Amino acid sequence: MNTPPTVPFTRRRLLSTAAAAGAGFLILPSGHRLGRAAPSGKLNILLIGVWGRGLAHYDSLSEENVVALCDVNEKRFPDALKRFPNATTYVDWRKALDHKGLDAVVICTADHCHAFIANWALKRNLHVYCEKPLAITVNEARTVRATWETKKGRLATQVGMQRHANPNFNRVRELVRDGAIGDLKAVYAWGNRKIPKPGYFPEEGAPPADFHYDLWLGPSPFHPYNPAYFSGNAGANCLSWNMFWDFGAGQIGDMGSHTMDLAWNAIDAGLPTSAEAKGDAYNSDVTPVQCESHFDFPANDWRGPITVSWYQGGAMPRGPKPYVDLEKIGHGAMFKGSKGFLVADFDSRALVPFGDDADLTYYKPRTAETALKPIGHFQKQWLDACRDPSKPTACDFGYSSQMIETMLLGLVAYRAGKKLKYDGKTGTSPDTPEANALMKKAYRDGWSIDG
Ligand SMILES: NC(=O)c1ccc[n+]([C@@H]2O[C@H](COP(=O)([O-])OP(=O)(O)OC[C@H]3O[C@@H](n4cnc5c(N)ncnc54)[C@H](O)[C@@H]3O)[C@@H](O)[C@H]2O)c1
Repeated sequence: MNTPPTVPFTRRRLLSTAAAAGAGFLILPSGHRLGRAAPSGKLNILLIGVWGRGLAHYDSLSEENVVALCDVNEKRFPDALKRFPNATTYVDWRKALDHKGLDAVVICTADHCHAFIANWALKRNLHVYCEKPLAITVNEARTVRATWETKKGRLATQVGMQRHANPNFNRVRELVRDGAIGDLKAVYAWGNRKIPKPGYFPEEGAPPADFHYDLWLGPSPFHPYNPAYFSGNAGANCLSWNMFWDFGAGQIGDMGSHTMDLAWNAIDAGLPTSAEAKGDAYNSDVTPVQCESHFDFPANDWRGPITVSWYQGGAMPRGPKPYVDLEKIGHGAMFKGSKGFLVADFDSRALVPFGDDADLTYYKPRTAETALKPIGHFQKQWLDACRDPSKPTACDFGYSSQMIETMLLGLVAYRAGKKLKYDGKTGTSPDTPEANALMKKAYRDGWSIDG
């Protein structure tokens, strides 16, 4: 273990002081300023999950003080320590979160721990970047949001939907908001990834001595070890476990998070009032490959009520015209308005106005001055907000938790097998009480999300 380096100040100390946030910086007891005015103000960061997706964070984190590294696989430490030589190593994230002097945590573990770690970290007044998905049950998403509500404006949060920084996200939002398709009526997002599995892998061998399988399982019910859960390449190993109910949410937590983000960013959705879904026959081990879910959303201050739909694994919405083949867009979104359709993938978009006399005179494009500003580097947007939490992050836990809560509610409706009403205030279904048990899941003894 290495000794953590001495650092000038910590987030915890910061929060204990009166904040002059309105002035764009914060005053510390020592007189230091943390933020734009403090070029030396590096953050003390804990990275949990140092390999795989964790590697994608190394470059932006190397500009900060990475003081602690946590991974259940000790084999991953030597390489990580080459990059972050001053870090202390941990195998249990619960202990790592108590590392002294932390400001912020980056979570790159398997999905079934995300909401747990995020919630524990927020409760310890740490800024949090959590890889997508933020949660794997409706209840987890709501729990993290409830904690975040008590900290917002003081802690920076971001869910790892980094495609959000693509300029196309802004362009799609502008077209929808500015009426290029008239009044918004319906929204569709879809993804074509299919990773069918019959069930949990059967027991095979024993975990290597330096791999803490019990900690990998964490809060999830026990399933025997099989190396097939850990056989994927760096950054793609999640495709070896994320389809199992106890470890992920299938394509909803995988590409669905990125793809629904493209739609969610343009619709200011909030929470739905109903959900309905259908798909593959229910398998108690594995989330459905093919599935579609549909939600009703109430009007907001700029649009009327809308429907939002998610399609995966072969289920697809109908395209606006025979010549627009949605099947050619692996992961995409489509918006239907009173005057036409907008079809988009992550990088480009196409407008299909209704009727051959559609002249678009009702729509005034923005000027260069009024166009939405780029959000810049996605991870750095969060690091900047850690220094000055009055700055926004594109995918904070408010925005992201509502999106994943909605999609996870789709899995509840799929299991309930009927259209259900949803009360977003309580996170329950008023007309389908049997669905309420499906909003949450059982955890192993000794694990609590409220740590
Ligand atoms: N934003 C993106 O584009 C993107 C891309 C790939 C993966 N991801 C997300 O990143 C996460 C990790 O995916 P991956 O493919 O790297 O998975 P992985 O199975 O390779 O795990 C990544 C690392 O985390 C460690 N780890 C797992 N559980 C841990 C725990 N409880 N405590 C400490 N360390 C733990 C593993 O040992 C490994 O080193 C997933 O949630 C996935 O959805 C996001």
